[in-house]
Amino acid sequence: MEIHKYEKIWFAAALVLIIAFISTVTYGAVGAGIQMVNDDGGEIDPNAISEHPTFEGYQDVAATDPRVSQVNESHYEARIVAQHPNFFPGTITVPEGATVTFHITANDVIHSYDIVGTNVNTMVIPGQIATLTAEFEEPQEYGVVCSEYCGELHHEMEGKVNVVSEEEWEDNYADDVIDADETGGDA
Ligand code: CUA
Repeated sequence: MEIHKYEKIWFAAALVLIIAFISTVTYGAVGAGIQMVNDDGGEIDPNAISEHPTFEGYQDVAATDPRVSQVNESHYEARIVAQHPNFFPGTITVPEGATVTFHITANDVIHSYDIVGTNVNTMVIPGQIATLTAEFEEPQEYGVVCSEYCGELHHEMEGKVNVVSEEEWEDNYADDVIDADETGGDA
């Protein structure tokens, strides 16, 4: 059987395209540091969030507090509850150079916690605790948005991660870090 020259060229072109498609899909899935939502962070009763050691008293801390606990010299933990159309706390503050582990859950519907300009972006599912860690090198204010449609005020659902200089941290925030023991401290 003879295959026409142009047909061979099209076979080859189609093959190259198929391989290119599979490669980009594979890269997008495993190469870009993307992880599937899983239950590594543990499960939680969405109707009793404040009874869970990780989120105990999450509504009670003063708004001006950094809202983080300290694990060791440069490692901090933040606990965030998403509730339409807010994040509690709305703003967390950490010093420059901090490694921050976020524990995030939701008490109503599915939200997300997306720190704009970083690769921190996780779905937040009622009943599950999403846990992820990121480093923040330079002082900068990051916006946080919810990127899962969650209701009427979805577009207003936002928060902030405030990375401040070492000096500002010592002057204004260091003394108000939450004692890890009070909040479970389960890094
Ligand atoms: Cu929460 Cu959209």
